[in-house]
Amino acid sequence: MEKHVLALQLSHILGEKLTRDWIYENIEVPKKEKMGDLAFPCFKLAPAFRKSPQELARELAPQLKHDLFECVQPVSGYINIFLNQEFTTEHTLKQILTERASYGKHSFGEGKTVVIDLSAPNIAKPFSMGHLRSTVIGNALANLAEHCGYETVKINYIGDYGTQFGKLLAAYKMWGNEERVKSNPIAELTKIYVRFHEEAKEDPELIEEGRGWFKKLEQGDEEALTLWKWFKDASLEEFDKIYQMLGVEFDLTRGEAYYNDKMVATVDLLKEHQLLAESKGAQVVRLDEEGLPPCLIKKSDGTSIYATRDLTAAIDRYQSYSFDEALYVVGHEQSLHFQQIKHVLGKLHFPWARDVKHISFGMMLQNGSKMSTRRGKTILLKNVLKEAIQQAKINIEEKNPGLENKEEAARQVGVGSVIFHDLKHDRRNDVEFSLSDMLTFEGNTAPYLQYAFVRAHSILQKGAFDPHQAETHLNDEKAWPLIKQLRAFPQIVEVAYKEYDPSKVAKYLLELARLFNQYYTHTKILQGEQLQKKLTLVYGFSIVIKEGLHLLGIEAPEKM
Ligand code: ARG
Repeated sequence: MEKHVLALQLSHILGEKLTRDWIYENIEVPKKEKMGDLAFPCFKLAPAFRKSPQELARELAPQLKHDLFECVQPVSGYINIFLNQEFTTEHTLKQILTERASYGKHSFGEGKTVVIDLSAPNIAKPFSMGHLRSTVIGNALANLAEHCGYETVKINYIGDYGTQFGKLLAAYKMWGNEERVKSNPIAELTKIYVRFHEEAKEDPELIEEGRGWFKKLEQGDEEALTLWKWFKDASLEEFDKIYQMLGVEFDLTRGEAYYNDKMVATVDLLKEHQLLAESKGAQVVRLDEEGLPPCLIKKSDGTSIYATRDLTAAIDRYQSYSFDEALYVVGHEQSLHFQQIKHVLGKLHFPWARDVKHISFGMMLQNGSKMSTRRGKTILLKNVLKEAIQQAKINIEEKNPGLENKEEAARQVGVGSVIFHDLKHDRRNDVEFSLSDMLTFEGNTAPYLQYAFVRAHSILQKGAFDPHQAETHLNDEKAWPLIKQLRAFPQIVEVAYKEYDPSKVAKYLLELARLFNQYYTHTKILQGEQLQKKLTLVYGFSIVIKEGLHLLGIEAPEKM
C-alpha cells in the first residue's frame, strides 16, 4: 500500500517521463533499519532531469506527504521514508481484521484463466517423489493464482498410455495373478513389469510380445482394453488415497490415452502447415532454426508418441478453456520436450503458444543421488507420509500427552512437514530428502510454523479474546517488525505467483513466525497495558499465518 502511495505521488510530481509501474518496481526496502522503511533511489532518473541524484532527492523529498509517512529524508541520492508506526499499525490491523481470509487477495487475475497441469503420475507404477513435487508445487501455484483473482483449472494428466503398457500386458499374460493384483495393484504390476525387463535382456522375443500387445491395445482389442482399464482404475484408486492425505483435488483427471483418437487432427494440422518432415522413416517437425533437435511426431512403425499427445492436449485445453496461461509443473528433465511443444505450437501460429509455460523443478535426492524407480529401491511416497504422520504423533505424545484428537493433529503436522520441506526450496533446486529434518520443531519446518499458530491460539484463549472487541490502535515499538512483516503479505502473494515461486511464501512465513516468537519472548502479552490491542495483534498474526499455510496447501491445527 505505501509503495503504491509513494509510486503514485512520485509519478504525479515527475510527470510523463516515467510510468508509475516503473517507479513502483524501483522502490526498495532498505536493508538497514536506520535507512527507513522504504527507499527510492534517484540515480537512474537523474540524467533525464539533468540533475544530480542528490539534488533530485533533495527536491523531491519535501513534496512527498501522506499520513503513512512519518518522515521523508534525502540521503545521498536516495529518498528514505520512515513510516508512521502508529498510523501504519492501525491501518494494517484494521485491514487484516476486515479482510480476514481474503487478506492478501488481488484482482489482477480477475476474468483470466490459468490451466495447471500437475501431478501426472504413471499408472501401474509407484507414485514417485517427482510426482509429489509436481503435486504440491502445482497445488500451491493454483492456490496463489486463485488468491490473485484467477480462475484455475487443475488437470491431472496421468500417464496411462505408451508402449510400456504393451510390455505390462504381455507380462501380465505370462505371470499375472488376479488375486495379487487386486490386493496390491501397483506393487504387483511393478514387479511383473520389472521382471519383464530383466527377462527381455536374455530373451528378445519378449520385446516382440510386448509390441504385439501394444498393437492390440491400439487397435482396441477387447482383452487388452479390459486389462488396461482394470490396471488404470486400480492405480487411480491408490493414487486417490495419496491425494486425500495431501488434501489435493483436481478439476479434471484426464490421461494421455484420451487423446489417442484425437491425434489425427493434430497430424493433419501439422501437414497443412507443411511442418512435417521425414527422418529415418519417422515423421518429425524440424526445429533447426530454434537450435533444437527435431520434435518426434510419429515413429517409423506409425505409432504416435508423448509429444503428439501433448500437442493435442494443449490445443484441446485452449479450445475448452481459452486459457490466459497454461502451466506445466513437470521436472526439469523434460525441459527439452516442453521447449519443443511450445515451438511447434508457435509454428502452428497459435498466438497462445507464448502463454504455455514449463514450470520446472529439480530432483528429490537421497544421500546426494537420484531416487530411482527402476532398481526398486525407491522410497514410496505412501510410506513417507505414513512415517511422517507416525513421527509427528510421537512428537505430539511427548509434548502434549493430554491432547484430544491426536490422530488428526498428527496427520496435519506429518503431511504438512512433507509439503513444507518441498516448498521452502526454490523449486529449480534439487532437494535432499530427510524425514528428521522435516519434522523438527526447531528448524525451518511446518511444525515450527504450525506451533507458532498454536501458541497464538492459546494466548487468545487465555486472554478470552473476542474479535468483536478488537482494538487496532496499538502503540508498541516492539511490535513494529512484526507489523511490517504482516503488512508485506499481499506483496509476497503477488510476487510468488508472478514468479511461480511458492518458496517466497514459505520463507515469508518462517520470518513471520520468527518475529512473532520474538515479540512473544520480549513482551508480556497477557499482562500490563494495551491488553486488547496486543491480543488484536496476536489475532492478526494468527489469521495471516493460517492463510499463508493454507496457500501452500498446509493445514494449521489449533492445538498440537
Ligand atoms: N506422466 C509424465 C511423467 O511421469 C508427466 C506428464 C507431465 N505433463 C504433461 N503434460 N506432459 O513423466
